[in-house]
Amino acid sequence: MVVFSVKPLFIIIVVSLTLLVVFTLLSPHYPFSQNPISRQSSLGEGDIWSVRRLMEWRPCNWWLQGHQTALPLETNGYIRVDCYGGLNQMRRDFCDGVGIARLLNATLVLPKFEVASYWNETSGFADVYDVDYFIQHMNGFVKVVKTLPPEIVTKEPVQVDCSKRKGQFDYVESVLPSLVKHKYISITPAMSQRRDRYPLYAKAALCQACYKALRLAKPLETKASKLLDAIPKPFLSLHLRFEPDMVAYSQCQYPDLSPSSIKAVEAAIALVERKPWTGELARVWRQRGKCPLTPNETALILQSLSIPPTTNIYLAAGDGLMEIEGLSNIYTNIFTKSSLLNEEDFTSMHGNTKAALDYYISINSDSYIATYFGNMDKMVAAMRAFQGLYKTLFLSRRGFAELTSQGLRGKKLMQALWNVHRDEFVMGRGSALPECFCEFKL
Ligand SMILES: *[C@@H]1O[C@H](CO)[C@@H](O)[C@H](O)[C@H]1NC(C)=O
Ligand SMILES: *[C@@H]1O[C@H](CO)[C@@H](O)[C@H](O)[C@H]1NC(C)=O
Ligand SMILES: *[C@@H]1O[C@H](CO)[C@@H](O)[C@H](O)[C@H]1NC(C)=O
Repeated sequence: MVVFSVKPLFIIIVVSLTLLVVFTLLSPHYPFSQNPISRQSSLGEGDIWSVRRLMEWRPCNWWLQGHQTALPLETNGYIRVDCYGGLNQMRRDFCDGVGIARLLNATLVLPKFEVASYWNETSGFADVYDVDYFIQHMNGFVKVVKTLPPEIVTKEPVQVDCSKRKGQFDYVESVLPSLVKHKYISITPAMSQRRDRYPLYAKAALCQACYKALRLAKPLETKASKLLDAIPKPFLSLHLRFEPDMVAYSQCQYPDLSPSSIKAVEAAIALVERKPWTGELARVWRQRGKCPLTPNETALILQSLSIPPTTNIYLAAGDGLMEIEGLSNIYTNIFTKSSLLNEEDFTSMHGNTKAALDYYISINSDSYIATYFGNMDKMVAAMRAFQGLYKTLFLSRRGFAELTSQGLRGKKLMQALWNVHRDEFVMGRGSALPECFCEFKL
């Protein structure tokens, strides 16, 4: 009865596939068959956001489609992820830890957010993130518990150190035996992991945790949305990172600082115990794009991107910004947490929660520009991509240093800066995102 079935069907499939390939190759959207629109700006028509893009980062399908592998019935043990550093660094490490827990078929307990050292405060995971929401949204991806079973609840976890390991650190080989033996361990995920070799279900757990299951705890979100309401729209969220600790850490020299900034930087240098480079080394260092942009330089680059001086700008930054007049003399509609929140709200709030506010504003702003490529910038860029917000840009410190060292000034410099940033924006370069995101041709 089904005499004619197999062969004709096969031919139909082959013919359709061939047509599809030919059609794709001939389609006008095939890359570079058209000139990327290169408006003549800077200072012409249209700001940087009006340039037509060729590439965009989006969440990968393998992750959005969910977890294809059922969780094993038996757990190999319990893992607590111990997180250190600033808020977004802790979040990154925690997300990694979720992937590791799934890789090892372990059950997660709530992570330890070690904030005292950096922020001078005690504020755990539950102060920042909505715990029930997290557990609910990890359902099927990895097991999470709020409380340990009675036989281990009184124990402290056995600490398994993997924070210093780099490269091909193998968790199954090195960590699983401790987990099975002790049943309750704590880890701090290793940096620079090759996660591309994880099975997809472990990567999916990481992505789900980081970009879908974490939302701010209710009281914090209420505060953040109040702050968001207070900012005039539309607005640009600008992550400026010209603070004493950053300048000291960068080992760069800034000859034109005001006396009060010089004092602040010197104090910070004493703390980090690193001396700024001098002479030829300083020049090479700067050319490699290692030096934070000053507010002056930032204002110049924003102008080269044809971002109007009347733009509403929210400063997503700490309280220690230096030389801010360099920006605010040109961009006069500047808003900060302290100018928008009432005194009481502000003084009762500590570093971690303030960082959470900047994060929230920045994933909800019309556009986001970062002068640096730090943990917050990476997290914000990813969340914006997740939400389909494409007006995200990292200013090129390297481009700026190279162009100015070539002696470019004035209009020529502005045009060259426009070109550098336009190219990065068109190709989605500069904001390259990690494993949960894929490049799409537009
Ligand atoms: C974890 O469970 C998966 C099935 O979900 C299984 O394929 C894998 O071998 C298990 N790995 C370990 C380390 O137990
Ligand atoms: C940490 O906070 C306490 C109380 O607010 C304060 O007394 C102390 O000086 C702070 N420490 C640092 C290093 O800022
Ligand atoms: C910023 O520009 C002003 C005016 O050109 C200059 O006086 C000041 O020194 C500059 N500041 C920095 C940090 O370069």
